[in-house]
Amino acid sequence: MDSTPVVIIGAGPAGLMLSHLLHLEGVESVVIEQQSREEVEKTVRAGILEQGTVKLMRRTGVGERLDREAEIDEGIEISIAGEAQRIDLHKYTGNIVAVYPQHEVLIDLIARRLADNGEIWFNTTVESIEGHDTDSPSVTYVKQDGTKATISAQYVVGADGSKSLARKIITGEGGQRLKHEYPYAWFGVMVNAPQTNRELIYATHPEGFALISTRTPDVQRYYVQCNPTDTVDMWPDERIWEELHKRVDSEKVTVSEGEITDKAVLRFRSAVTDPMQSGRLFIAGDAAHTVPPTGAKGLNLAMSDISILAPALARAVKKSDVKLLEDYTSLALPRIWRAQHFSYWMSSMLHSVPTGDASNDRFQTERRLAELKTVISTEAGRQLLAQQYVGYDLPEFEV
Ligand code: PHB
Repeated sequence: MDSTPVVIIGAGPAGLMLSHLLHLEGVESVVIEQQSREEVEKTVRAGILEQGTVKLMRRTGVGERLDREAEIDEGIEISIAGEAQRIDLHKYTGNIVAVYPQHEVLIDLIARRLADNGEIWFNTTVESIEGHDTDSPSVTYVKQDGTKATISAQYVVGADGSKSLARKIITGEGGQRLKHEYPYAWFGVMVNAPQTNRELIYATHPEGFALISTRTPDVQRYYVQCNPTDTVDMWPDERIWEELHKRVDSEKVTVSEGEITDKAVLRFRSAVTDPMQSGRLFIAGDAAHTVPPTGAKGLNLAMSDISILAPALARAVKKSDVKLLEDYTSLALPRIWRAQHFSYWMSSMLHSVPTGDASNDRFQTERRLAELKTVISTEAGRQLLAQQYVGYDLPEFEV
């Protein structure tokens, strides 16, 4: 194959959903993915789907297993030094979130694309993107056997993650990359253990943050705040359990222990690229923006980009109408900034940032906890948090 309407770089949530939605509009595409299918289907990422993402998956025919298997959460708990308050998401928003890990979404999208005879080229590395400022851009790639080839397209989309090649072209031409680094990180573990709690617990404690999440009734996902420079060998199992118990346990809840099967440090970064397009090249998902993991917004933001980009590309390819495509960045950015704000805000209310100056540290902690308590103890505060946690409906555009 040496040409297709849309070349999509990256088989993550953004790339696969884009390919799926374009197919439903009768527009074919090729997805080029560096990793193998097995690697893509195993990568550990966050596990919370906003209601808009759930509705999008259902509406487009990829929500069947999600409806069968996902745990539906109507609330979350926020715990301050062992005292938990439940935020009733459903009461404040009429909506829920689904606990369905990102790799499960990818398994479903890959299966559906392949059943629809879609092209996903795994183990294939993009070397360069050419001519995005012309009417016929192209992508040069290297296959697993080392052979090199070029495919031309009408449009190229970089859904190629946080180290995006496509983004580097846009920033190289003067596009802005607005960034923030946080002075803390998460140490994440996967554990074979029974559920600690039916709903997620976001816990803050003088020692720092912890999160109790889940994957299945037998596999749990826990995080503890750590330093960005920490390495896996600094966190033997005993230290992880000690910190989790200290930060989370209460009269009602004891963190369930089990075999730890995965350990990783997750860096906290925020970034937004503006614009998210140049000529016939577009970026979406992590390629365009990064959020820290606190609100689990990453995948959901990827889906919101695609809910604009898919109909925009379909209109452009089918009707030569490029108006929506031209507006992609300005339509996508307000939602991206809101998610940036929410992730930053939640992070700043829940994490401690010790400086070594005892008086200042105490001041910062008291102020931070006063903010958190104001939010979770008032109707207005709980409503604001709940609404942003479940997210807003995704935009829908006729093609
Ligand atoms: C997760 O389950 O990995 C998870 C859940 C909620 C978050 C972040 C990560 O806010």
